[in-house]
Formats: sequence, structure tokens, C-alpha cells
Amino acid sequence: MIFDEPPENQAETLIHDRIDSSLHFRTKIPVGILGATGSVGQRLIQLLDKHPWFELVYLAASDKTNGKTYKEAVNWQLPTPLPEKAGKLLLKPCEPGVDCKIIFSALPAAVAGDVEVAFAKAGYVVISMAKSHRMDPDVPIMIPEVNADHLELVSKQPYGKSKGMIIAKPNCAAIGLALALRPLILEFGVKAVHVVTMQALSGAGFPGVPSMQLLDNIIPYIEDEENRLENEPHKILGEYKNGAIIPYACTISSSCTRVPVTEGHLEVVSVQLAEKPSAEEVIRAWEEFYPPVQELKLPSSPVKPLYYFSQKDLPQPKLQRDLDNGMAVSIGRLRKCQILDYKFVTLSHNTIRGAAGGALLIAEYLVKKGHVFW
Ligand SMILES: NC(=O)c1ccc[n+]([C@@H]2O[C@H](COP(=O)([O-])OP(=O)(O)OC[C@H]3O[C@@H](n4cnc5c(N)ncnc54)[C@H](OP(=O)(O)O)[C@@H]3O)[C@@H](O)[C@H]2O)c1
Repeated sequence: MIFDEPPENQAETLIHDRIDSSLHFRTKIPVGILGATGSVGQRLIQLLDKHPWFELVYLAASDKTNGKTYKEAVNWQLPTPLPEKAGKLLLKPCEPGVDCKIIFSALPAAVAGDVEVAFAKAGYVVISMAKSHRMDPDVPIMIPEVNADHLELVSKQPYGKSKGMIIAKPNCAAIGLALALRPLILEFGVKAVHVVTMQALSGAGFPGVPSMQLLDNIIPYIEDEENRLENEPHKILGEYKNGAIIPYACTISSSCTRVPVTEGHLEVVSVQLAEKPSAEEVIRAWEEFYPPVQELKLPSSPVKPLYYFSQKDLPQPKLQRDLDNGMAVSIGRLRKCQILDYKFVTLSHNTIRGAAGGALLIAEYLVKKGHVFW
């Protein structure tokens, strides 16, 4: 329980009163997006269209688009049509005072920090895709399938009276890695990780990397990405105890590259495990991974968070990134490593599982658990 009132059972009753048997709310929860015109903002608008629980009522971006309709302001880059209702919304400043409860922040980190605090102080539930607050000791970096209990950290945030809060979603490359490591940690313990990423263009936002640099090329550097990939998983995979996260103790070494793929981060991972399981036992740990959040049947939950592919040339971005609406992580190519114990490949959709969809899943979890009152 994060706040004193209403009591959890009362909140749960309230929520259940508002959900009908087909998981639809009779009164939808109003939500807003900061950074609505960017890569992640567009993906959120696509995913929120016809969402059974949430209704998009507020959009904001930079000063240059303020006052325009979304349709006028956006350079829509997704293959599905721009949702009509979102297209008619007027872009407003990134300031509290708007009539919604949950704010998805897809702002660049340079501006997200202060803006997100202002919204949390004003009583909004802020779900952030930016890196600004991820390593703050009182901000959980949430993946509901991995660390739902970290939500308790929010009680340490200074916004209790207003009932506002900031919850971070992990770095887009850290999500696929943390989800693949979680069953290995639970079953065998992980001592060391070496990861090389091949990250999609959309991860750099829009318009992102100039085409002259990307065509026929790979860029072996993404600013600050290796730092995030080497630090965030310790917190994400850590244990919540006595009001703090005890970071998961293992060594992580990463190299991050940008490749000419539109969506889907592929990662080549080697691990050293504390126990010495067979390859079959490792695959079974992934295939049997069924975290408690799956029982909640949240609208954005994948059917299964992890899929193992035994076909020798899978997973591939073009073939597997949209699995379970882009919310599942695909794993393949498990084999012995001559330096550590095992190596494998993971793939996750960076703007869905790694950003917009991951943030929506957090919001749905908060609502279902009675932490959002409206
Ligand atoms: N792309 C991914 O795969 C991914 C994955 C995980 C996390 N993230 C994180 O999500 C955030 C958004 O990423 P993105 O890829 O969507 O970036 P993006 O395409 O560059 O979009 C940035 C958005 O922020 C707005 N913006 C820029 N400067 C602003 C300012 N000073 N005040 C208010 N709004 C401003 C832009 O509005 P205008 O159109 O008006 O300029 C645009 O809507 C970043 O923090 C990023 O690190 C991205």
C-alpha cells in the first residue's frame, strides 16, 4: 500500500466497480502525453487509440508546436493511420493544470527532469520514458513482470500528500536484457553478463541519425547507452528490502551499436551463472517464466513475456519484433560460451516493449492494484 487513503480494499472495490467483465472501464481514466510528437509519443498515441481503460485528453510538446492541432504538428511515421480523435487535440504547454490523472512523459532527458517533478508535485501519476529520474533512490525502474514490488519505493517520494508520483520505465535496451536475465537469476543466479547490442534507428527518436551515416553502415557508439545498460539492470533486478533497493550483484559489460533497422533491438548476450545448468534447463527456465502479473490479464500484457526459438537463425527484428503486439521478448541461439557459461540472442521492440507499451503496462498495473484514483 503506497498511500494512506483510500484503503487498499476500498480502492480495489472502486476499480472493480468500474471495470466490466470484458476488462472495459465504464468511465475511462483521462491520460496525457508529454513529448507527444516524437517517436515514442506517436507510438503511445497509436497504442492508446481504443484502449479499454484510458482516454487521451492532453497532448504537449515543445513551444514550436504549442497551439497547433496534433495533426498539424506531427510528422506521423507509423504505418497505421493517425487516430482521428488525437489528431484534433490541441497541443498545450508541458505544465500541470490539465484535467487528467496519468501523464506519460516521452520528453528528452534534458527537459524531462524538472517537468516531471512539477507534474508529480501537482498530484499526477507520471510514468517516464526519459532517463532523468531512473537512478533516483526513491524512483522505481519498473518492469511489472520483473519487479512489481519495487513500486513500494514510491512511498519514499515527497509527493505523498498530492498523491503524485514518478515511476520510470527502463532504458529500451535494458528491458530485453533484464527480462531475459530474470528467470536465470531466479533459477541459477547470474554472476557476469557481457552484452553487445544492435539497436534500431527509431531508438534515436525522429528524425534521428542522418541517413547518410546509417545506410550501408553501423555506428559503434550511442551516447551514454553503455553506461545505462551497465547500471540500470542492477537496480531493476535488485531486491526491495526495508524501503530501498539492494542492487543485484553481478558484473555487466556492454557495447552498444546503432544499425540500419527501423524497429527492434537485438542483443547478443553471454552469461556466467552461479549454478551449472544444462542448456535444456536454461531454456526451460525461460519457457516456464510466468510472473504473477500475468494473472492480472492486463490489456497490454503479452500472452507470454518470453519466447524461446529453437530455429537456428532466430530471433530476427523483422520476424519477431511484433510478437504479442510487440510486448514479448524473443530469445534464441542458446549455446555454450568458451569464455563465460552460455551465450544467446534476445530481441525486443524498442518503441513498444522498450517504451510506449512498457509504460502502458506500468500504468495498467497501477490502476489494477488501486494506486490511481480518479
Ligand atoms: N525512441 C525509443 O525507442 C525510446 C525508447 C525508450 C526511451 N526513450 C526515451 O523517450 C524519450 C522520447 O524519445 P523519442 O525517441 O520519442 O524522442 P523524439 O522523437 O526526439 O521526440 C521528442 C519529443 O519531445 C518534444 N520536445 C523536445 N524538446 C522539448 C522541450 N524543450 N519542451 C517540450 N517538449 C520538447 C518534441 O516535440 P517537438 O516535436 O515539438 O519538437 C517531441 O515530441 C527520450 O527521453 C528517450 O530517451 C526512447
